[in-house]
Formats: sequence, C-alpha cells, structure tokens
Amino acid sequence: MEAVVVSGPASVTLSRRVASLLRLEAIEVLHKFFPDGESYLRLEGDVNGRIVILFQGTHPPQDVHLLQLLLLSRTLRERGASEVIAVVPYLAYARQDREFLPGEVVSLRQLLGLLIESGVRSLVTVNPHSPWALNLRGLSSVSVDVTSAVAEEAVKSFGKFDVVASPGKKGETMARAAGDAIGSEWAALMSSRDPRTGSVSVKVEGTTVEGRRVLVIDDIISTGGTMVEATRALKSLGASVVVVSCVHGLFVNDAARKILESGALDVISTDTVPSSYSRLSVAEELAEALRPMIS
Ligand code: R5P
Repeated sequence: MEAVVVSGPASVTLSRRVASLLRLEAIEVLHKFFPDGESYLRLEGDVNGRIVILFQGTHPPQDVHLLQLLLLSRTLRERGASEVIAVVPYLAYARQDREFLPGEVVSLRQLLGLLIESGVRSLVTVNPHSPWALNLRGLSSVSVDVTSAVAEEAVKSFGKFDVVASPGKKGETMARAAGDAIGSEWAALMSSRDPRTGSVSVKVEGTTVEGRRVLVIDDIISTGGTMVEATRALKSLGASVVVVSCVHGLFVNDAARKILESGALDVISTDTVPSSYSRLSVAEELAEALRPMIS
C-alpha cells in the first residue's frame, strides 16, 4: 500500500527531510492561528487509502502541538487513511509517567490513550523519557535512540573527549552508550530533584575530571537546571572543557544561555525540537525506523 508523509506544523523541516530520504510525497498542512489563538489546519493533499506518516512534535507550546496532532490524526482517519503512524520526535508529558505524589494525573498514560482514541495505531518517537511506559494495548511504539549520533556530532564539532558523563536515572545507560560510540571513558552523574520545588543537585563520583575534556549528555534539557549544576560541579573539580549536549533541547527561559554562563564551552541538540542549537538531524534514524513499517 502506498505511504505518504503529512507534515504537521510543529515538524515541517524534519518531516520533509524524512520524506525525501524515503522518497515519499510530503503533504503540507496549511496552518494559521485565529485571532483568539485557536488553530486552523487544512490538509493540502489526498490521503484516501494511503498509509499516512504524520509528523508532529509536541515540544512547547505542548498543548497547542498536542491538540493539533489529535485533530490531524482524527481527520486523516475520517479522510480514509488506511493507517496513521504518528511520528512525534519529542513526546511531551513523558516525564509524568507515574504518580510521584498522591493524586497526580499520569499524563503520559492519558496522552497515549488520546492518541489511540484519535486513530493512531503506531507511534514513533526519539529517546522518550520512559520507553517502558509507552507499551499500551492498542498502540505499537518504536523508540529511536540517537545517543551515539549526538556524541559523534560533539566529537566532530569539538574534538575528542576524555570522559562522557550523564545525569539522572538513565545516566549510566546513556553515558555508556555515548562513551562506547566515541571511545571515551564514561561516568554517571548523581542527580536528584526536589519534586516540590524542582531544584536540582548534581554530584560527580567515581571518575577524575581534573584537566580533562568532558562531554555531558542528557535526553532532555528543559530549564537547564540539571546541566547548569552538572557544568558547575565538573568545572569546580577542574574539568578543562565541558560541552553540553542533549537530544531534545526545549531550552525553557533562556536555559542555553544559563548553561553557557555556568562555564560550558557550547550547547548542542538535535532537530527533534528545532532551535538555533539543533546541530544534527535525526532524519536518517527516523527514516531507518520507518522503512520496515511501510514496506
Ligand atoms: C530527567 O529525568 C531528564 O533526563 C533531564 O535530566 C531533565 O528533564 C532536565 O530538566 P532541566 O533541564 O529542567 O533540569
């Protein structure tokens, strides 16, 4: 069956890149805002009887992008798409994957339920915060891991690193994958966040960084609090260079500037969330993941 890409307004450039790699037509979505802020969307092509690969990231403004994704997927089914594969390069609400405090809404589970109800049967995303939480009956999920590609890009831009470090619960897995990819030592950084105030603390343990070049890598930079603390800790222990990298650069409230001011040489991210720090594209990795789904 013939497949086609639909370029949701949040991921236009990336969707065109992937369409071109897969040699598929890319149907544009005419998009504007009404004066009151509501979205107007219009499909500029025919999807009847076709497998549709719908691209729409849910980076900020998350709720706008998410509603556009739901409106588009329902419309695609109504217009006769035989299947809707949602490609959501950055998956919002993924960090609320459980009830941390009693009564909290588990937003990720609700969001996935909404996707299923709007006709999505397959979800492709990049380095989701909790890949294990994407398994829900009625939805098949593919998580594309671009950790190695981010580390390789950092080496291409800044030269070799002695140590790759990564904070948080996934720190060990991510640092190891990145370190193996670029032939560097790796270290997990101990980080913790106060669930009520959101303030972060980071500790460097089990590795020597004095006089060494360190690449820090994480899946998400949001407020930058984690990376600011990581950079400060590494610099205070004598790291000669700290480069900060991530997959999804949300860079809320001038986060990148704060990271640079804390002593990092530079900040790089991918184009899952388009910004001036998007140094590498995840198009190739997404095309690879999609190829078997449409052949
Ligand atoms: C947390 O689990 C993630 O891996 C990131 O460390 C976190 O989302 C970064 O947030 P922020 O930039 O606000 O510190």
